[in-house]
Amino acid sequence: MNLEFERGAAAEVHNTPGGLPSIPLVHLNDGNAIPQLGFGVWQVGNDEVVKAVATAIGAGYRSIDTAQGYDNEKGVGRAIREASVDRDELFVTSKLRTRLLGEKEAVEGLKGSLKALGLDYLDMFLIHWPAPVHDRYVAAWQGLIRAREEGLVKSIGVSNFLPEHLERIIWETGVKPVVNQIETHPEFQQREIRDILKRHDIRQESYSPLGSGAALDNAVIGRIAQQHGKSPAQVIIRWHLQEWLIVIPKSVHPDRIRENLDVFDFELSDDEMAAIARLDRTPEGRTGSDPSTFNDLW
Ligand SMILES: NC(=O)c1ccc[n+]([C@@H]2O[C@H](COP(=O)([O-])OP(=O)(O)OC[C@H]3O[C@@H](n4cnc5c(N)ncnc54)[C@H](OP(=O)(O)O)[C@@H]3O)[C@@H](O)[C@H]2O)c1
Repeated sequence: MNLEFERGAAAEVHNTPGGLPSIPLVHLNDGNAIPQLGFGVWQVGNDEVVKAVATAIGAGYRSIDTAQGYDNEKGVGRAIREASVDRDELFVTSKLRTRLLGEKEAVEGLKGSLKALGLDYLDMFLIHWPAPVHDRYVAAWQGLIRAREEGLVKSIGVSNFLPEHLERIIWETGVKPVVNQIETHPEFQQREIRDILKRHDIRQESYSPLGSGAALDNAVIGRIAQQHGKSPAQVIIRWHLQEWLIVIPKSVHPDRIRENLDVFDFELSDDEMAAIARLDRTPEGRTGSDPSTFNDLW
């Protein structure tokens, strides 16, 4: 068992100047590091996303998670280029859309993302979904490996991969993804996949960390939030951090964007962590698509 992985002892504090929150850095298996808490932009249009990302960067977020399929890379890129923070202080992630699954398509697709974002490299690029019925995800992974060799991206990973997809790309290419970005929140905790991720030193990145909002009304979360004088969203984000997951909540509201980052001044007790562990309702708690059956090419 890798204790550093388990306890997050390898984390460094990502200091942001001007009294902004310090966000721990998580080490990846390729030697790079990602802020443990980042900002998601799914379902935010190109115009609205400029303001949201600008607000997030101003509040202290340094990691932004977009995707080709969100159709907002242009707006995300504009906010990044206009920010008063150097490019190398930001960690920018995008994801390959399923219709570009394929080796050549993945490299060209990544170049398309860079063009839309107006950036000359990405910090991380993920295969968004394996879409297993098309059997193109290994070829796409070979494309991401090539793109990394060409310097278009620093770290490569996957999203929505099940154990069999992970083991196949590792077996066929010898290259491990740095993260698997998967739906994870108190009502869908993804505990079964954690052992295999740990075995391969792959980090779990929680998407829809608030259950796309659905987990915020949970009575147990509400009670814990009241005890700490924090909001339900803050308690859930804190749970992800203490579970040593990478977490990327989304909001378009400036007060919530700031609130979701204000999670470093309290700690959940062992009893509170145990109470949240009991909220798992796998598989009913899933709010998004099931990767074993999601095969849309979009
Ligand atoms: N790889 C994938 O397949 C995949 C799939 C889904 C998501 N993701 C990534 O994960 C990110 C986060 O997931 P998500 O967008 O599904 O949802 P989420 O972060 O779990 O929840 C967002 C929802 O909660 C609300 N919210 C946020 N902060 C709040 C607060 N402090 N108080 C009350 N409500 C709050 C937001 O509303 P407002 O915006 O109105 O504040 C929004 O409705 C995405 O943006 C995307 O980057 C990846």
